Amino acid sequence: MVRNRNYRIAVLPGDGTGPEVVREALKALNTVAQKESFKVEEVPFDLGGDRYLRTGEILPESVLAELKTFDAILLGAIGHPDVKPGILEKGLLLELRFQLDQYINLRPVILYPGVDTPLKDKGPEDIDFVVVRENTEGLYAGSGGFLRKGTPHEVAIQESVNTRMGVERCLRFAFDFCRNRNARKKLTLCGKTNVLTYAFDLWQRVFHQLAEEYPDIQTDYAHVDATCMWMVKNPEWFDVIVTDNMFGDIITDLGAMIQGGMGIAAGGNINPEGVSMFEPIGGSAPKYTGQNIINPMAAIAAAQMMLEHLGEKVAAGRIESAIRKVVVQDLKNLSAGQMGYSTSEVGDLVADHIIRGA
Ligand code: IPM
Ligand code: MN
Repeated sequence: MVRNRNYRIAVLPGDGTGPEVVREALKALNTVAQKESFKVEEVPFDLGGDRYLRTGEILPESVLAELKTFDAILLGAIGHPDVKPGILEKGLLLELRFQLDQYINLRPVILYPGVDTPLKDKGPEDIDFVVVRENTEGLYAGSGGFLRKGTPHEVAIQESVNTRMGVERCLRFAFDFCRNRNARKKLTLCGKTNVLTYAFDLWQRVFHQLAEEYPDIQTDYAHVDATCMWMVKNPEWFDVIVTDNMFGDIITDLGAMIQGGMGIAAGGNINPEGVSMFEPIGGSAPKYTGQNIINPMAAIAAAQMMLEHLGEKVAAGRIESAIRKVVVQDLKNLSAGQMGYSTSEVGDLVADHIIRGA
């Protein structure tokens, strides 16, 4: 059977520097599409802080319904300085993750040669792992509420929701992903079984149960605080880490720092049976907006992950090689304003390497 290689991509540039970095990601995408003879149809969506301030709309039902018809979504950034924190994050980013049931947040932590890490004496051979973060449950589920709000006896409750189904599908994804990633085949569950004795009891039981189906995978466990410690001290111990939503959020910011910063860190919000969404994880960086100095590499890496997900492995590999070449050969630094090139020039360099790649 001939595979359909026309991809319909919903593009959500979003807020702040989102549009600038997405433009460069699309440059890489279109360049590699031409090289590998597949087609990309990009449909832009105006969602984010500006639309909200203009119209009061965050994610209209009709837009959500339309997004469900795409092959994938490429997102720039969500977050606007004039909008109260939480509104866009919950109303748009988390809403998309939940409504599209993107139950995995896949976040590679890979240090490319030539990139500085703050970890002394650690290099690319030490920092090469992937975090599989549960993306629809836990503390993010929005369960809880206030009692006696605004009084001295106020109670605020925020509960972590962990369903057997949700935990199992996340762990199963992690086992499968670990099996296919490389020869190391080591999966670490990151939790807090010594304190969160209900939530992580469930996680641990299901983890051990599934492990029996994956005898080729070495399993390990670390508490989340110890995970932070090892990520700094012995990152080479990790291959794939699986964890809940909140812990995954926290440890992937640490991960982004050890791989060279937000300029390079990308992630995929994945629904293996539905529509997935790929994003640079750095945020909207309002202070750099419109200056053409932000690093687009994370957005380009998000496009790479998207192609990987769509089954265009060769094309994804081409983008990755180009990223590797640009960070080794061209960029002085990964930080905004210190790259030695502008945002669009970095995108051009990546495109050039894709064109010239063997
Ligand atoms: C992330 C972000 C989001 C999260 C925020 C913006 C809601 O920090 O993608 O890691 O907490 O998941
Ligand atoms: Mn985060």
